[in-house]
Formats: sequence, C-alpha cells, structure tokens
Amino acid sequence: MYKLIIKGGAKLSGAVSVGGAKNASLPILAATLLAEGQYILRNVPKLHDIGTMSKLLSQLDVQAECDKNSRFCGTDGIDICLSSVNGDLLLTNNGGARCEALYEVVKTMRASILALGPLLAKRSKARVSLPGGCAIGERPVDLHISALEAMGADIKVSHGYIDAECSRLKGADITFKTITVTGTENIMMAAVLADGVTVLQNAAQEPEIVDLANFLRRMGAKITGDGTHCIQIEGVDKLRPADYSVMPDRIEAGTFLCAVAGAGGGAVITGAPVAEMKALISSLKSAGVKITDKGGGDLFVESDGVLNATDVTTMPYPGFPTDMQAQFMAVMTKAVGTSLINETIFENRFMHVAELKRMGADITVKDSSAVVRGVKELSGAQVMASDLRASAGLVIAALMASNTSEVQRIYHLDRGYEDFEKKLALLGADIKRVKAS
Ligand code: UD1
Repeated sequence: MYKLIIKGGAKLSGAVSVGGAKNASLPILAATLLAEGQYILRNVPKLHDIGTMSKLLSQLDVQAECDKNSRFCGTDGIDICLSSVNGDLLLTNNGGARCEALYEVVKTMRASILALGPLLAKRSKARVSLPGGCAIGERPVDLHISALEAMGADIKVSHGYIDAECSRLKGADITFKTITVTGTENIMMAAVLADGVTVLQNAAQEPEIVDLANFLRRMGAKITGDGTHCIQIEGVDKLRPADYSVMPDRIEAGTFLCAVAGAGGGAVITGAPVAEMKALISSLKSAGVKITDKGGGDLFVESDGVLNATDVTTMPYPGFPTDMQAQFMAVMTKAVGTSLINETIFENRFMHVAELKRMGADITVKDSSAVVRGVKELSGAQVMASDLRASAGLVIAALMASNTSEVQRIYHLDRGYEDFEKKLALLGADIKRVKAS
C-alpha cells in the first residue's frame, strides 16, 4: 500500500495533459464481447479499473495481449496484458462461449456489470455476480435487470449472482425510472444485436454514452439519439470488431482545473473535452476562477486562490457531475462566504467531509446537503481516502493547506487517475508517493 505526502502552498504552473476517459473505456472494453475478432483501442488510460476489466474479459474469452514494452504492463500487479501497438490496447475475442463474471472480480469493480448486456446479446447466457453496495451508496442494478427482462431475458437473482438466459433478445420500449449511466450502456449493448427496435426513454445523456455509441456504430450497430434522453437502437444480425480512440477524461481534466483553482497559479490543461465540461467550468468561473478556452482542447486556468463561495447541485449530464463534487467541495473550503453543495445522485457521497474537517474545514452535512463555510487556512493532516473522487478532493485540499499532509489508501485514486501525483508534480506541486508502513 502507498500513501501520498503533500506539502501544501505551492502555486501550480505549466502544462498537464489529460488521458483517455475511464468511464468511456470500461463500456467500450465490455463491448468487445459483441463480435469476434481483433480490436485496437487507443487512448485507453493505464488504470487499475482497466486492468480489472481486462482480467474479467480474459475470463470471458477476450484476451488482451501482453508485451513487456507496453505502458500498460505491470498495472498494479494485475496480469494485464496489453499490447505493443504504441501503447494501445489490443484485444482479441476468440469466439469462446464462457459467460460467467465471478464475484472475485466483480467485487473489486462495480462496472463489471457492463458484461451482462453484451453476454446476453451475443452468447444468450450470462452469470454475473451481483455487485455489492459501495462507499458512496447502495447502487442497485434493478433497472439493468428489468430492462433486460422487458427484452425477453429470463433472469433469476440468487446466492449473490444474476443468472440470465434468452433466445435472441427482442427490441422493446424501455423507460428508465431513474437516469442510469451504466444501465443505459448495458441496455444499448444488449439491444444492438436484438431482434427489432429498442427505444430507451429517460436514457442518460453522458458524453461517455455517445463515445460508446460511436464505437458500436463503428462495429456496425444502428443507433440514433445518443446524447439525448431518447435513444433508438435497431438490432442487427452481426457486428464486426473495430479500431477506436477513446474520448478524453472530463473528470480528470476537471480535477486539474480544481487543483489550480484551489492551490492558485496559472496552468494549461491540454487535450480536455471542453464542450463536455460546461457545468463545472461555469461553477468555477462563478467562484472567480479565470478559465480561457484556447481552442484545440487547451484550457488556461488561473486563480489567486481567493475564491467566492459558490453553490452547486449534482445532476445527471449536462448538470454538475457527482464525480466532481468532492474536488469542488475541497476548493470551496477556503472560499469567502458559505456554499451549499447538494448531492442528488448518491445517498452517501460525503465521506470526504470528515477528512476535510480534520484539515480545518468548516462543513456541516444535513441529509443530502453540505454547508461549507469558507475558512482562512487549512492545516495539513493525516487523512484517509474513502473512494475514488473523494481521494482527489483530499489531494486538492492538501495542496491548499499550509503544511504537510498524508493521504492514505490511495489505491482508490489509482482506480481512476493515471500518474496523478506525477502530473501534479509537473505543475510544481510538492507531492510524493511513498510506501505506507
Ligand atoms: C456511473 C459512473 C460513475 C458516476 C455515475 C453517476 C461509470 C463506470 N461510472 O456510475 O462514475 O458517478 O455514473 O454519474 O460510468 N440506480 C438505481 N438502479 C439501477 C441503477 C442505478 O436505483 O439499476 C441509481 C443509483 O443508485 C444512483 C443513480 O441511479 O443513485 C445513478 O446511478 P448510475 O448512473 O447507474 O451510476 P453508475 O452507472 O453506477
């Protein structure tokens, strides 16, 4: 286990580049179950979750290739297997028929549920461990299951597993009662090989859904309406493998914007999906952060570290992303005035609050709202990460603090940020990774 030692107070400057999107890569990797043959996936980030998805796929007869020279090699001990093609990921679906996603893998990554739709669509059978709850909430998968049932699947949930079978799935009209990102992705992947047309109402509009749809279209799928609340999918008999470059990660880009906003300084974030970051950019601008779109994915962000308290409410896209809530809250801890942060997506996504308070933040949580009263100083402390984005929030707070902090349990961070501390160090942060005793 590792921890980060961070000496706060340094202004950030220079340039940092954004990697491929984790939340687009995961469903795209799962979609390789849909057609036999060889895929090249470019701009896939080197993350623990990508290693986990590769491991899951290898148990389902999709192999990622191993090459010692690959930048992916050795991803946190997982035998992942990644390719020689300029660090791109090379995957081969060898037409096998295995269809079981075991608890050992699913328990470490909820997104493993994304295997369910493609397995049923292509292999007519799936046995996928039921993901448990996680630190940020209960996170059920009932909407995935009921939509697949509406498409004709016979599903039983028992002994912690989802057992599903079908002949060929049938197109259906499905209205999600809550907007669900992976639910929409799972059913899109199920519908591309179904018999007839599927219409998804109240679908998620996240940019990662559009990226998955672009990939599926490259494979021969017929999808329209992605990026809106109504997606239509006309099933086809067969798909083909594809070569695809994953979109950049808007959450990683947003995290760097928050780091500069909180710590102060001026830096360029390169390769950011600017059009997909409007809600965050607008909230940071309201707080007094200067952000200039330089074109071509370059964002210049400038802050003197003295910001105005700004309220945010997390919402499905295009609203303020729940995955940016912890990082934005960290920035608000030193703002002038009181900000109200409402979390509407997950019921328990304030685990970072207790840790921020250990650093001197003044925050009160009531139900799904946090009242953040800006303080003059944060003081460095030992803190513990509870989930992926909470970890990033704690790192930002540590950069804003007056002395040294230790952030423990950073394996959460490695699930979603590639070379996070190296990129921050490039911007001038005093941060290092050391073995935790
Ligand atoms: C995805 C993202 C995650 C992000 C979240 C919300 C991936 C791999 N993960 O997670 O980073 O924080 O979207 O933007 O893309 N729900 C149900 N029943 C279901 C499914 C969901 O009640 O069957 C509820 C959830 O408990 C939650 C809400 O719907 O309250 C939204 O969850 P959802 O969009 O499904 O999140 P994920 O897809 O798991």
